[in-house]
Parts: sequence; C-alpha cells; structure tokens
Amino acid sequence: MSDKPAEYTGPERVFSGVQPSGSLHLGNYLGALKKFVDLQDDHDCVYCIVDLHAVTVWQEPKELANQTRHIAAAFLAAGVDPAKAIIYPQSRVRAHTELAWYFNCVARIGWLNRMTQFKDKAGKNSEKMSVGLYDYPVLQAADILTFKATHVPVGEDQKQHLELSRDIAAKFNNDFDAPGFFPLPEPLIKGPGARVMSLKDGSNKMSKSDPSDLSRINLTDDADLIAKKIRKAKSDAGVIPEAVEELEGRPEVSNLVGIYAALSGKSDADVLTEFAGQGFGAFKPALAELCVEKIAPITQLMNRYLSDPEEIDRILARGADAASEIADPIVGDVRDIMGFWKV
Ligand code: TYM
Repeated sequence: MSDKPAEYTGPERVFSGVQPSGSLHLGNYLGALKKFVDLQDDHDCVYCIVDLHAVTVWQEPKELANQTRHIAAAFLAAGVDPAKAIIYPQSRVRAHTELAWYFNCVARIGWLNRMTQFKDKAGKNSEKMSVGLYDYPVLQAADILTFKATHVPVGEDQKQHLELSRDIAAKFNNDFDAPGFFPLPEPLIKGPGARVMSLKDGSNKMSKSDPSDLSRINLTDDADLIAKKIRKAKSDAGVIPEAVEELEGRPEVSNLVGIYAALSGKSDADVLTEFAGQGFGAFKPALAELCVEKIAPITQLMNRYLSDPEEIDRILARGADAASEIADPIVGDVRDIMGFWKV
C-alpha cells in the first residue's frame, strides 16, 4: 500500500484568468472580476491575463501588449490589489506552456471533442481553426494546475473547461502514481452574475463577440451610454412579478432582475419584493442608476491607470516574477514525476 495521501492536502489557492481580447463587459465584471476582489482578502489569489489564450484567434501584434495593459487596468480599477493578489500576463511565465505540453499527453482527444465552446467558436469552420483553439482547454488546465490552485472563480460558461481540468488532474495523479499531487480544482460559479445575458436577447450570454454593442455594457461605456443601453434593453409588456418562479419563461426580465441583484448584492427575491407590480418604465431607470453608480467609477479609475502605463508594467513584471516563483518548482516536480532526464 502506498503511504502517499490519496487526496491533495496542500494549501488552498485561488486562480483565474481573463483574455486580453476586446474590452470587458458587465458579464466579465459580475462573473469574474467582482469575485476576484471579494476573494483577495482571505485567500492566496493569482489572477492572470491570458494572452496565450487570446492568440488562439488572430490578435494584431501592435495591439496585444496594450490589450494586456487594458485588462490589468480593469483588474486594478475593479479593486484587485497587487499587494494582496498576484496580477501578471500568462506569456511571461513559461510554466504555462511547458505544463500544457505535458497535459497534452495526458488529456484524450475524445475529451476535447466534447468541448462545446470550441464547437460554438468554430462553427462549421473547425478545419480552418488554429490547433491552439482546439487545445485551449488543456492550456487552461495547465494555468490552474501550475499553481496547484484549488478554487477557480469563473462565470458559468467555463464550467465544462473546469471539469476537464479536474479530469486531467485526476488522470495525471493516477497515471503517474502520484495520488494527491494535483488538487482537483473547484469552480466558484454560484451566485448572482454567474451568467449575464445579452441585453437584446435573454437566451444568449452577454459576449464581447456579439456584433451589437447594445447587447452589452462595456466597462469603458460612459454614464449616458450605460443609461441608453438599459433603456433600449429588451423587456416585455408585463410587470415585475412577485415570486422568482414567475420569472420562468421571461428570460430578458430574469436577466435584468439578475443584474440588479448582482450589482446591489441582493437576492433575486429581494429585488422582486422591492419592485413587484412595477412596469419597466420604473424599473429600467432604477437599474440604469445602479449600473452607472457601480460601473462609472471603475471606468474613471481604469482611465486613470491607463494614463500611467509604466506603472501598470511595473505591477505586471513584479506579478510575473512572483507567479514564476510559485509555478516553476511545481513544473519541476512534474518533470521529476514523469521521469525526464536531469543531472
Ligand atoms: P473570458 O476572458 O472569456 O472571460 C473572463 C471571465 O468572464 C466570465 N464571463 C461571464 N460571466 C458571466 N456572464 C457572462 N456573460 C460572461 N462572459 C464571460 C468568464 O466565465 C470568465 O470567468 N477561458 C477563460 C479564461 C481562462 C481561465 C483560465 C479562467 C484561461 N485560463 C484559468 C479560469 C482559469 C475565458 O475565456 O475567459
């Protein structure tokens, strides 16, 4: 019998990543950034700008570094504090790509074939997509596990990728007789804001790639634009219902109520109690006011951070060094476990 512990017994760590492709929207803020801030006070947190993931689709080389700074500014403006959490660009920490290769040899093609995000992104053109886009979830598993992260705050759209990360961790531990070497990372998805939907169609998630800018609230939108987008958001001819069950079959209403709940820190039920019986002529202005109150300060702060790119670069460089210090020894252990030559 092995005397190694069967399960991971190491310290807890939080890891998450955001792609530097396009500007962030309310879904990214509520599904990810807000949770990053909530977790940083009492957890060991690592937040990565995943530029290696971004280049799985074409990114203009002249823009890429600035896009990375833009996301860093959004992290900082949302309240991520570099004195409490590590913030860094993925491409500066080599452990990600090295571990991704080892995991390529652990993950099975059948597992990747089941990934719905690839199917959604590739559509009928899968033959013309980059190999990187197909392999994207394996790199994501490497991101998380190169820090032996135990908890991953993400929106609901990342659930399947997190399940794959757990499968890869379990298969690695099993194949190499290293029980408990990698934790099986747990997604932190629950709570309001885990799935913010398009303002134009309550059955589609709010997304950077939606051709209509009116479908999303960007963290770069000013107060007037935010108010206009809420005013134009799809709703219906009914009123705000009394009970959560009555939101069933009303996806747009459910989304607007959910956004109000997530921004105000209340439950959907509390929001319904407050607004029950009111029409959208009353609810939308209240929602617009709340959105402006919460988002406009972030936008202003972001612009302030972006006016000093050298300071952002210093924070990212320090973060990359701190991240490498954690990740490199873990990948070193993986090399030993796999039996690679060494002197
Ligand atoms: P990305 O850059 O697409 O999105 C960043 C985060 O925002 C969340 N999100 C949403 N949450 C609620 N409602 C929405 N409409 C919405 N749209 C996006 C995403 O769930 C995500 O948490 N694959 C990841 C990046 C990544 C990663 C990782 C995440 C790479 N490596 C390791 C966690 C751990 C992605 O594409 O995120």
